[in-house]
Amino acid sequence: MMHPDPAARPDPARLLAWYDRHRRDLPWRAPPGGAPPEAYRIWLSEVMLQQTTVAAVAPRFRRFLARFPTVEALAAAEEAEVMEEWAGLGYYARARNLHACARAVAAAGGFPREEAGLRALPGIGAYTAAAVAAIAFGAPAVPVDGNVERVVARLFAVEEALPAARPRLAALARGFLEHVAVRARPGDFAQALFDLGATLCTPAAPACALCPWRGDCRAQAAGLQAALPRRAPKRARPLRHGAHFLLTDAAGAVLLRRRPPRGLLGGMLEIPGTPWREAPWQEAEALAAAPIPGLAWRRLPGAARHGFTHFVLEMALFAAQVPRLDPPAGMEARPLAGAAAALPTAMRRLLALAEEAGAVREAAPPSMETHA
Ligand code: ADE
Repeated sequence: MMHPDPAARPDPARLLAWYDRHRRDLPWRAPPGGAPPEAYRIWLSEVMLQQTTVAAVAPRFRRFLARFPTVEALAAAEEAEVMEEWAGLGYYARARNLHACARAVAAAGGFPREEAGLRALPGIGAYTAAAVAAIAFGAPAVPVDGNVERVVARLFAVEEALPAARPRLAALARGFLEHVAVRARPGDFAQALFDLGATLCTPAAPACALCPWRGDCRAQAAGLQAALPRRAPKRARPLRHGAHFLLTDAAGAVLLRRRPPRGLLGGMLEIPGTPWREAPWQEAEALAAAPIPGLAWRRLPGAARHGFTHFVLEMALFAAQVPRLDPPAGMEARPLAGAAAALPTAMRRLLALAEEAGAVREAAPPSMETHA
C-alpha cells in the first residue's frame, strides 16, 4: 500500500502521461500532436458542456457546427435560429450570450488569446475563459469545473464543504502552473483533469487502483476519497404552478408563442400559458388566460413536472382543437411534427403529457436536460 509523503505534491507529468494513453476521443478535440484546435470549436464545446453532459453534448456539437461552421456564420444568424438550434440543451441564457459573444468576436476579427480578454466577452466567465485560453491558445490557465474541484479536493484532502471551498480549490488548481510540465501543455493538463474526473475520479466510487496519482492522493491515503468533496446541504426547491394551452388544428399545426427575450427560457418558443406562481391555478382562473378564450378547452388528466435550478414547475394542460389555426398577434402556428425539436424540455414534457392522454399523436423526442 502506498502512502503519500505529506510534503510531496502530485506530479503533473504522471497525469499527462496517463492522458497520452487514455484521453477520450471527443469531437471538439484536436488529434494528439497536431495543430492546436480552433478557438471557435473549443469555446462552443465549453459553453455547451456547462451544465450538460459530454454524452448529450457530442451529437449536438456536431449538429451546431454543421449549421454554423464558423464564428462569423454564427454572428450572421438570427437570434431565433440560434435559440432553436439550442432547444433541449437547457440554460438558454447560454445560447443568447453565445450569439452576442459571436457578434463581438466577429466584429473584433477573432478571439482574444488571454484569459482577461476572453473574460470581457458576453457569457464568458472565469471557467470558460481559462478553458479557451489553455486549450485553444496554450496560455497558462487551469479551468476549474465540478470535475476539477472534486479531483483537487481529494488530492489535497480539503475537508471544507462546497460551495465555500471553491476559492481554495481554485487556488490549489492554479498551483499546478508552477510546474514546467503544465506550462508546456496547459490545454492537455486541463483536459487530463476533466478526463480523470469523468472516468476514474468519479463522484460515487472512484477507481483509485487505476489512478496515475494514487500514490499522491491524501484523500485516498486517509480512506476519504468517496466522502470528498463535502457539500453544504441543499435547500429543497419550492413548487410553482402554471397552466398551459395546447391548441391544434385539423392539419396538425400547434399554436406557439415566443417568450420575452430576458428571463427564464428567454427567447425560446413555448406552448402558451399562465405565469408560473406558487398558488395552484383554479380552472376558471386559468381559462381566463387562454390564448383564444371561449373554445371548448378540456383539462387533460395529470400534470407535467419540470425541475428548474431554483424551483420545480408543475403544469396543468388544457387542450382544444380548431379546424384551422389563425394565430393571434405575437403567436405562430407550426406543424406539431417539427415543433418538439424547437421547444425547451419543460414544454416537451407537456407534449408527452398530451400524448399520454391521447390528445396528440406526435411523439416528443427524449429530453437531454437535467434542469432548466
Ligand atoms: N468538460 C468540460 N470541458 C471538457 C472538455 N473540454 N473535455 C471533456 N470534458 C469536459
